[in-house]
Amino acid sequence: MSVAKGPAGEKVRVIAIDGPAGSGKSTVARRLAERLGLEYLDTGAMYRSVAFAAMAREIDLADADAIVEVAQTSDIRVEDTAVIVDGVDATTQIRGPEVTRSVSTVAAISGVREVLRVRQQAWVLERGGGVLEGRDIGTAVFPDADLKVYLSASAAVRAKRRAGEVSALDYETVAAELAARDAADSTRQHDPLVQAPDAVHLDTTDLSIDEVVDELLARLR
Ligand code: DC
Repeated sequence: MSVAKGPAGEKVRVIAIDGPAGSGKSTVARRLAERLGLEYLDTGAMYRSVAFAAMAREIDLADADAIVEVAQTSDIRVEDTAVIVDGVDATTQIRGPEVTRSVSTVAAISGVREVLRVRQQAWVLERGGGVLEGRDIGTAVFPDADLKVYLSASAAVRAKRRAGEVSALDYETVAAELAARDAADSTRQHDPLVQAPDAVHLDTTDLSIDEVVDELLARLR
């Protein structure tokens, strides 16, 4: 059964954008959502929120069952500019180095993925559609999405983009951590980052955001 159906069985509009860190997903997804009049969901922020909640509750990251319980019981609100976890504004902390280093471990737990996948599907159905970005949107969350996009970019450009966002860390540290996170996200057993066979692949290394968005809008027409 297709999950991309509204309460009355009507088709909902879903755009799935996947790719590694720094490939341009967030900016592209946000702008595409604006142009299409749809809402935007950063699913990575949800995985980061579970890691944040686990750390706040002082849970051992090696205890997968306890982390699944955190995912099940935490109240995660990913809004346009703020992320609220169990009533606490975690917007800044979920992007910090501690969460960034532990999030791949949390995202590799199948029970966590199951909980968040169901929430992501419900989020779309409540809104009648949306633009979602992550690692497994086109492969696992919405395999019937209207448009599936896989963004990539050279490792050097991706690290440079990320280093520009996190001024506390130097380029070499960001590049090494990014490579380690990509390797973990692409080789894990459950819903690893892979390009869906029917996804449009764009290499954003030498493309502007507008060029990417215009190309995707053309594909939708
Ligand atoms: O997009 P991001 O860097 O904020 O994502 C944080 C982590 O969450 C990333 O290392 C992999 C994981 N993630 C995932 O496994 N599946 C998703 N749909 C989104 C993110």
